[in-house]
Amino acid sequence: MSNQPMDRRDFVRSISAGPLAALAASAAAAESAKPEKKWQPVSDRKIRVGIVGYGTCRFGAAFGFQDHPNVQVVAVSDLFPDRCAALAKACRCAKTCESLEMLVKDPAIEAVFVATDAPSHARHCIEALNHGKHVMCAVPAAFGSIEEAAQLVETVKKTGLKYMMAETSYYRADCHAMRTIYRAGGLGRIVYSEGEYYHHSTSQIGSYKDWRVGLPPLWYPTHSTAYYVGVTGKRFTSVSCQGFRGTAAKYQPGGNRYKNPFADEIALFQTNEGGASRMLMAHSTQGLVSETGRVFGERGWFDASGYHGAEKKLPDMERPPLPPTMPPGGHGGSHGQLTHEFISAILEDRQPAVSIYEALAMTVGGIIAHQSALKGGESLKVPQFDPKA
Ligand SMILES: NC(=O)c1ccc[n+]([C@@H]2O[C@H](COP(=O)([O-])OP(=O)(O)OC[C@H]3O[C@@H](n4cnc5c(N)ncnc54)[C@H](O)[C@@H]3O)[C@@H](O)[C@H]2O)c1
Repeated sequence: MSNQPMDRRDFVRSISAGPLAALAASAAAAESAKPEKKWQPVSDRKIRVGIVGYGTCRFGAAFGFQDHPNVQVVAVSDLFPDRCAALAKACRCAKTCESLEMLVKDPAIEAVFVATDAPSHARHCIEALNHGKHVMCAVPAAFGSIEEAAQLVETVKKTGLKYMMAETSYYRADCHAMRTIYRAGGLGRIVYSEGEYYHHSTSQIGSYKDWRVGLPPLWYPTHSTAYYVGVTGKRFTSVSCQGFRGTAAKYQPGGNRYKNPFADEIALFQTNEGGASRMLMAHSTQGLVSETGRVFGERGWFDASGYHGAEKKLPDMERPPLPPTMPPGGHGGSHGQLTHEFISAILEDRQPAVSIYEALAMTVGGIIAHQSALKGGESLKVPQFDPKA
């Protein structure tokens, strides 16, 4: 799937094939008659932000913090001086720090965007939170470790600061539409859901200290699991997972630091509403790069052709309007949404959409799924991190 932003008109066009053609045509007509929703400022305060990480994906500058009217980028950091300088230039920021550990000591900084390597996410977020900073973090929230997940949630609770995971699928136009219809009752209880992250590549993608080499696939589950947890706010309770052995040298004994033999993992989760959810992360399918999902409920379903179901009056499925200076950004126009949501949550003093609890519900099931795959698909319980009701 392309990473190009999809606006509301693109989305209406995207549902115009298949059985929904007539509905899509009338929706398209209504769309062109409808005025664009406009962003309304909630404050003129500027949150003072530090940004860390400008590696292979150059994520530090990709989420539009430097273009948000309620943000001042105070300092940036990357361990490599050339990357750090490039990040400073891209964010139009004068101050650079040699590391995250130095940056979080700056009392002027209120919030930090952690776009470092995945194995460091939890440690870096804990460090920033313990220095009194709100945190938005690239995915995943924790890296293969349940203990790390527990430490992270404890730190968020102890500090009372905002934590948000920047899961891009959460704000893709289709996932946002599913969530909106779900909340309006148009899907009912979800019987079955699916999420996929396919990423075939002919060469090894770079990463700091090679963390991507031989990575257990479902340690990186959130682009898929967003299509259930990010739609419903419900939870996975147990999992059985099958692994597909890779033929590349990195999947052979001694080929990676994770002792991982699998290039692909396909998990079947049980959900706490009694349904099933099939989530996968796969590298082996020739030429396929895609992040997608679909949900099937008692009152309707949503797939690539759009919504089908009992609800005749659908809610407004458009994503929130962004400040005019903010680009929608990559991964289906999700980057700008994520940053805007994080900054709005700080300004409005409320939980961000992908809070620590949603983040861990999207992340931890994948860690347990990999354990299941190593045990030949044994059914394992998924630990829960939600506050006691
Ligand atoms: N769709 C998505 O949501 C999506 C897509 C791509 C990447 N990502 C995530 O974005 C993150 C960044 O990806 P990448 O490919 O650029 O990673 P990378 O491994 O190539 O680069 C990480 C960077 O972090 C820097 N870093 C590490 N520790 C630091 C410290 N203590 N202080 C300052 N800088 C430090 C490194 O110097 C390096 O430049 C990853 O966690 C990845 O999982 C998410």
